[in-house]
Amino acid sequence: MNTEILPIDKDSLSRSARIIKSGGAVAFPTETVYGLGANAFDDGAVKKIFEIKGRPNDNPLIVHVHKNYDLSSLVSFIPDYAKALAEKFLPGPLTMVYRSENKVSPAVSCGLNTLAVRIPSHEGAQRFLEYVNLPIAAPSANVSKHVSPVTAQHVFDDLNGKIELILDGGKCSGGIESTVLDCTGDTPIVLRSGLITREMIASVAGKCGQYVMKEGDRVPSPGMKYKHYSPKCRTALFDFGDSDKAFKYYKECLAEGLKAYIMCDSGVAGRYHIENLLDLGENEEQIARNLYDKLREGENLADIIIAVAPQKQDGIMAGVMNRLKKACG
Ligand code: TXA
Ligand code: MG
Repeated sequence: MNTEILPIDKDSLSRSARIIKSGGAVAFPTETVYGLGANAFDDGAVKKIFEIKGRPNDNPLIVHVHKNYDLSSLVSFIPDYAKALAEKFLPGPLTMVYRSENKVSPAVSCGLNTLAVRIPSHEGAQRFLEYVNLPIAAPSANVSKHVSPVTAQHVFDDLNGKIELILDGGKCSGGIESTVLDCTGDTPIVLRSGLITREMIASVAGKCGQYVMKEGDRVPSPGMKYKHYSPKCRTALFDFGDSDKAFKYYKECLAEGLKAYIMCDSGVAGRYHIENLLDLGENEEQIARNLYDKLREGENLADIIIAVAPQKQDGIMAGVMNRLKKACG
C-alpha cells in the first residue's frame, strides 16, 4: 500500500471520508498527538486499528467527535461536574470516560462498560470529524510502544505502507496525549495526566482525584500497565538535581565512543558545554510540545539519550514526567 501525506482540504477530506466509510483507517492531526482513526461503529475497522499498531487487545481506544456531535447518543450518564468541565475545557486536550450506551463497537472499549470521549480543538481535526460526522475511534498513530507522533512525518516513519492516507495538520501544539479523566463516579479521577492538569480540573469540579496504580489493582485505564513512548536507542534518566552527574555520564559515554545526546531544558543546557544537545525549550509548554519530537530526533542520531528531568514536577510537568519515566526510566 502506498501511504500519502496530504494537506487538509476538500479533496483530502472527501478521500478520508471514503476510506473511513469503507472500513479503513486514516491518520489525522490533533492538538496533542496524531491519531489513527476508524469508524467506531464498524467492528472490523476498529479491530484493524489494533492490528496496524500491534496494540494489545485489552487497551481501549478513545472515541473522537466534532464539537456539535450529540454525546447523549453514545454515553448514558453525564454528571454535573462533567458538564461544567466540558463547558470550560472542550474542545481541548481532555478525554472524559463515561458509562457507555454500548452503541459503538465493543472492540473500542475492549469490552468495558465505559467509553472514553474526546473533542479535539485542532482545526484540522474538527474539519475531519465534521466531514465524516461519525465517532472516530483513534489511538495515537504510532506503532505500539513507540514514541507518539507529533508530525505527519513521524506517522509516516511508523506506518508507511500500512495506511493509505495521513492528513497533515503541521506539528501538534500540545505535544503530549490528552488528560484521561474518569467521570463515572461522584468525583472526577485523573487516569492519565496531560495538559489539562488535576489542579485545573479541581478548580472547576471542586475536587479531583489522581489514580495511582497499586499492586493487584483492577486497572481502570488499562493503557497504564503497558510500556510506552520508548525510543529505539538506549536511554538514561537523571533527576533535575543530578544534572552534574548526567553531564559526567555523557562525557563518559562519549569517551567510550558512544554517540551520546543530552535531552534537557534550555536552562540546564546553558550551564554546560554540550555538543550533542536535544533542547526541550525554555518553559513548560515548550517542554511538553518538544518532548516527543526530541525523543524521535534523538533515536535517529544517538546510541544513548541521557535525559535530565525538569525541575517542576506538578501541573503540566506531571504529564511530562509520566511520559519521560516511561520513555527513559
Ligand atoms: O491525546 C490523545 O488522547 C491521543 C489523540 C490521538 O487523541 N490519543 C491517545 O490514544 O493517546 P491512546 O490510545 O494512545 O491512549 C488512550 C488512553 C489509554 O491509556 C487507554 O487505556 C485509555 O485512554 N482509555 C481508553 N478508553 C478507556 C476507558 N473506557 N476507560 C479507561 N481508560 C480508557
Ligand atoms: Mg498511545
